[in-house]
Amino acid sequence: MAANTAIRHLLDVDEWSLNDIQRLLDMADSLRGWSDPNSLRSLLRDTVVVTLFYENSTRTRVSFELAAKALGADVVNISASASSVTKGETIRDTVNTLDALGADIIVMRHEHSGAPNTAARWSNSSIINAGDGWRAHPSQALLDLLTLRSIFGSAAGKKIVIAGDIIHSRVARSNIYALTTAGAEVILCGPPTMLPQTFAAAYPGRNVSVTYSIDEALANADAVMALRIQKERMTGGALPSLREYRQFFGLTAERMKAYPHLPILHPGPMNEGVEIDPEVAHGAQSYVERQVANGPLVRMAILLWAARKDDAFLNMAPQTRQIGRH
Ligand code: CP
Repeated sequence: MAANTAIRHLLDVDEWSLNDIQRLLDMADSLRGWSDPNSLRSLLRDTVVVTLFYENSTRTRVSFELAAKALGADVVNISASASSVTKGETIRDTVNTLDALGADIIVMRHEHSGAPNTAARWSNSSIINAGDGWRAHPSQALLDLLTLRSIFGSAAGKKIVIAGDIIHSRVARSNIYALTTAGAEVILCGPPTMLPQTFAAAYPGRNVSVTYSIDEALANADAVMALRIQKERMTGGALPSLREYRQFFGLTAERMKAYPHLPILHPGPMNEGVEIDPEVAHGAQSYVERQVANGPLVRMAILLWAARKDDAFLNMAPQTRQIGRH
């Protein structure tokens, strides 16, 4: 089966322009507090959305499911551990089978980087990357940007620190693309074993830098995003101990006393007491719950875009064209 180039896949945001991102986030903003939820349910009627998760998830899977249902789609949830993947079925077999069963959109998470790209090669459905290996998590980056936009009005010119296990982080990689496209400066911070000095060189032309001092990074920041220490992806002793990580890089209650107004984000799930203290994660500076609440809105906008119902939605909501923030 040849790949159909007319199909809209969301594999990462690296090739998305500022206008593309702004338009999608404007749609998400417009969906917030929509006064007539019934009117949305016609948009994806007759659309079948399959969530295909080879790796565990709480936020991403649930919010894609809620988003699809809010738009009137039929939703089927598959976890790979309960499917014929366990009998040796390949990604190509799986997506071809789902196509034949009538899927229109497949929301896919996989532990291997590039797996959604493989699926997109063989599928006649739209493939939406819900996180692959260390590579990309585009819907997370878009909801993070929506959250920053809601704090600042615009992310342009803002210094955003991303702190933690950068090398294993698909969230960091997609955020570098989304945030710099929106005009923000990204400062990466973590121990050298999780953040090689050369990391920023992989993003030529983008406003990205590396530092190994969390206090130096925070002193100049407009917002900070802590990342989870990914114990499941760590081999070879990248850290002496989690306690030492917390001491040198954690957003501890003690450290954050010096930055009482700095907005704090975390994509979740959090290791409370490692990269972020519980008082900080649930304190007045935390935007973690707002990030989670923005998840279904951004994912509704992604599903509308993938199903080519974005214009139909914008015709229902002409005011979205006038929001114009990024
Ligand atoms: N942020 C994120 O991807 O969370 P889940 O693993 O719970 O989906």
